Amino acid sequence: MSDIEFHAVAKTGDLDDGEAIQVIVGKKEIAIYNVEGEFYATDDICTHAYASLADGYIEGDSIECPLHGGCFDIKTGKALTPPVTEDLKVYQVKVDGDDILVGVPG
Ligand code: FES
Repeated sequence: MSDIEFHAVAKTGDLDDGEAIQVIVGKKEIAIYNVEGEFYATDDICTHAYASLADGYIEGDSIECPLHGGCFDIKTGKALTPPVTEDLKVYQVKVDGDDILVGVPG
């Protein structure tokens, strides 16, 4: 079991409700989402082809890929609609003051 290390990746003011941004942690591209004031993190690159989900469209709890329109559940990473079939990895998120921290395996 690898330990989770938390990295400060953004400020809470960087993204409004319903927005997503891409951050880089080590070599990983991770998307951070603001869903009704709560922050979530998943892999940013779609599991179908190469597209940044941070450029996609948030609808409620799901993110629609900007390339072919597949949807994932932001909170669980679950693939919801074709053409995506493979779930996204999700990461733990903590808020400390106005810092958003994402937990990735160390
Ligand atoms: Fe995301 Fe095709 S690249 S649905």
